[in-house]
Amino acid sequence: MTWSSRKRFLAACLLGLTAIPSAQAAAPRCRAVHLRVNDRKNPLGMGAAHPTLSWQMDDQRQGARQTAYEIRVASSEAKLRAGSADVWDSGEVRSAQSVGIAYGGPALQSQRRYAWEVRIWDAQRHPSAWSAPQWWEMGLLQASDWKGHWIGNAAAPKHSAPLLRREFQLQNGIARARVYVTALGSYQLHLNGQRIGDGILTPGWTDFRKHVLYQTFDVTRLLHSGANVLGAALGDGWYGSPLGWKGAEFNFGPPPPRLLLQLEVTYRDGHHQTVVSDGSWKTVAGPIQASTIYDGETYDARAAQPGWDQPGFSGQGWQPVQDLGAYEAGHPLLMAQDMPEIRVSQLLRPQYITQPKPGVWVFDIGQNLAGYARLRVHGPRGTRVQMRFAEILNPDGTIYTRNLRSAKATDVYVLDGKGTETFTPHFTYHGFRYIEVTGYPGRPTADDITVEAFHTALPRTGWIETSSPLVNHIFRNILWSQRSNLMSVPTDCPQRDERLGWMADAEIFWGTASFNMDTDTMTRKWMRDVVDAQGANGAFADVSPRVVDVRDGAPAWGDAGIIVPYKAWKQYNDVTVLRQNWAAMEKWMEYIHQANPDLLWENSRNNDFGDWVPANSTTPKDLIATAYWAYDAHLMSEMAHALGNRSAEQQYRQLFGQIRSAFQKKFVQADGMVGNGSQTCYAIALQMNLLPQAQRAAAASHLVADIQKRDGHLSTGFVGTGYLLPALTATGHDDVAWTLLLNTTYPSWGYEVKHGGTSMWERWNGDHGDPSMNSYNHYAFGAVGEWIYRDAAGIDTTASDAGFGHFVLAPHPDARLHSMRATYDSRWGTIVSEWQTTPAGDVTLHVVVPANTSAMVQVPGKGKSGVKAPAGARFVRTQGDAVVYAVPAGSYVFHGHMGGR
Ligand code: BGC
Repeated sequence: MTWSSRKRFLAACLLGLTAIPSAQAAAPRCRAVHLRVNDRKNPLGMGAAHPTLSWQMDDQRQGARQTAYEIRVASSEAKLRAGSADVWDSGEVRSAQSVGIAYGGPALQSQRRYAWEVRIWDAQRHPSAWSAPQWWEMGLLQASDWKGHWIGNAAAPKHSAPLLRREFQLQNGIARARVYVTALGSYQLHLNGQRIGDGILTPGWTDFRKHVLYQTFDVTRLLHSGANVLGAALGDGWYGSPLGWKGAEFNFGPPPPRLLLQLEVTYRDGHHQTVVSDGSWKTVAGPIQASTIYDGETYDARAAQPGWDQPGFSGQGWQPVQDLGAYEAGHPLLMAQDMPEIRVSQLLRPQYITQPKPGVWVFDIGQNLAGYARLRVHGPRGTRVQMRFAEILNPDGTIYTRNLRSAKATDVYVLDGKGTETFTPHFTYHGFRYIEVTGYPGRPTADDITVEAFHTALPRTGWIETSSPLVNHIFRNILWSQRSNLMSVPTDCPQRDERLGWMADAEIFWGTASFNMDTDTMTRKWMRDVVDAQGANGAFADVSPRVVDVRDGAPAWGDAGIIVPYKAWKQYNDVTVLRQNWAAMEKWMEYIHQANPDLLWENSRNNDFGDWVPANSTTPKDLIATAYWAYDAHLMSEMAHALGNRSAEQQYRQLFGQIRSAFQKKFVQADGMVGNGSQTCYAIALQMNLLPQAQRAAAASHLVADIQKRDGHLSTGFVGTGYLLPALTATGHDDVAWTLLLNTTYPSWGYEVKHGGTSMWERWNGDHGDPSMNSYNHYAFGAVGEWIYRDAAGIDTTASDAGFGHFVLAPHPDARLHSMRATYDSRWGTIVSEWQTTPAGDVTLHVVVPANTSAMVQVPGKGKSGVKAPAGARFVRTQGDAVVYAVPAGSYVFHGHMGGR
């Protein structure tokens, strides 16, 4: 305990607020757990100079809440244990805050490790014991910390992945060693015969002209005195691979790809040794003859270099690398990758093998996914085994590849001929369910193919389980499309010649994505890409990082620059993401306003995609644009409020009001009809709050009538789909929302399931649509996942709060489902909403409200007498056919009744 906190402690004892030390002062049932630094557990090589600290309160008692906290940071765990917080001691802070607390100590130093711990005071003002200590370690914070040179192999064939190596001597007494490494391209790092790290396609994808992410590895245990070897395979990755349907390569800088590395060794006696990438490294073309993102990889095992990454290797035929110059401060800016790498999340085995033609084997994995296949093979030297990847089959059982367009999606392995060989690609990935294998020596078995599915390894946070196999399947499909499209950038699809950071796709899906997984670190990273792609005129792009098209952002696409950070802030109460992007968001608002002084977004719509791939409907594009602009203004005023910027809050509220009036004048009729009456018109007008209160019910009736006219079907595209079910629920038409979700005829999510979909399709008519635009793994329509969490299960933020410190539990059960259970690991702890229904309309609702949070629970029931509430629930009000209770932390069971259904 520091002197200042001891003084406070003694004062508290005197006041009777704290127990006497001999009683150990600890409330045994309360503790801070799940400690995170910038949302990561024990992050190594962190870049954020001003990190935020978070924890959860572990306290099972009803009403558990934190009344104060103390954070201690020390230069080592030993110091913490000895009670010496030699870096920072927050002292006792009277606050319930447990998420996003700014580190308040002295400036953090490059490469230093910090140990930290927390204790908290419970509702009775008893302090807990100290948490288990955790740590974070800083990366290379200053550009001048980097001593290495960019190196590459300009002589290696284009799109191949040469090997680079350097042997070096170390002395006795190594205490600690770190490698800081990145590439303009993609690297796989080796040290003394071992691959370092398990990231795929590292570093993450950015606009490499502006920002490059680097990784940090703790390699202390792999080094020894004497000779050591660092090695790297260096591929094109997103830096050099052809991208977009135009196939432009090296979009972010000239060839060849290049590596930058720094090994920092600290000896026990305190002296340092540094090994960097420089002209002393050697290189060879190596066995990876070609490897690009879309086309796949060709690997000739005969050219492998056994022992290349170990000491004592002859290095015959290796040449000096090309020294491409020192890292110049800020060009591009190196930044720690403060977001998880892409990692394997699932291993899958083939379910069937067929032979549609002699020597052509087709493996069915049973699941559409993004990843690649590990091949096992035994055969004569020089045998060429080819794997091609596809999402669906032709009627004759061969693979269908037209929808991949120009992407070759082909991996080739040429056998060395020595025993059983295995091959895993290095710098490519595919979107597929089926693998066609040709050239295989003999008859392959299911054991010869293992599929590795991977994605940016964001922690899973949400689970949905219902009594309906259909809903469970839809949810699984959504999750698989999310997994398949988090490739350091949120992408549209994983298979064809696109796989780009299409902005609307992310904007529409981000709510769902953020329940399923903790997307905050990725939001912060991708928003940097979005800002890097922003034009000098303030326009966001359609695609970030910007490739393919120089035109400025279309409505709903560019607006992702406002909506995505808003979603992250609402979900995690992360104001950093708002602060970091505020200036860019303001520029976007200004850009639209300047071109559209009449407050209808009629000019500068550029690609103007509209309600993309709807089912038999069109929606006026000026209506969509104006609605999004108004929505942006509304979100800006909320975000300005969170940032404490009162004048901006006021200004954007006013702008919202003005655009809303212009919208009403142009698009809303007296009888509540909106635009041309498409479902998307109503869905966005209702959800974006663009209608006068008095017209909402009429507009909702028109919407329901349109759905009924279509025999209970939706007609929305990308823009409308995410808003449709929420709009129905918000206007009291849950039953219609459920009908849409439970449909199995065209167009519906269930139709995809019934027609073999194992992921979300790009188009409702994926089974009979245009092959050039027909991905079977697009997450945009998976936006309905947000409705499942927020409305069906009812786990929602309040209108005025961000995050789940105080939240809403307002489930909307439907008698067509017997049960639903949703679990959400919020920043504050695990929230559960679970309901069962009976045919008679009775509802049992079980909710779990984490320690240090509170919730407003809305239970179906006609008035107070229609609901049986548990002890601890305080009646607040009746609201339509539901009753609202306030509950503190705890686990509760309510009994209610669904009116009339
Ligand atoms: C992508 C979409 C994207 C769209 C732009 C397509 O090719 O796959 O998801 O948003 O282009 O309209």
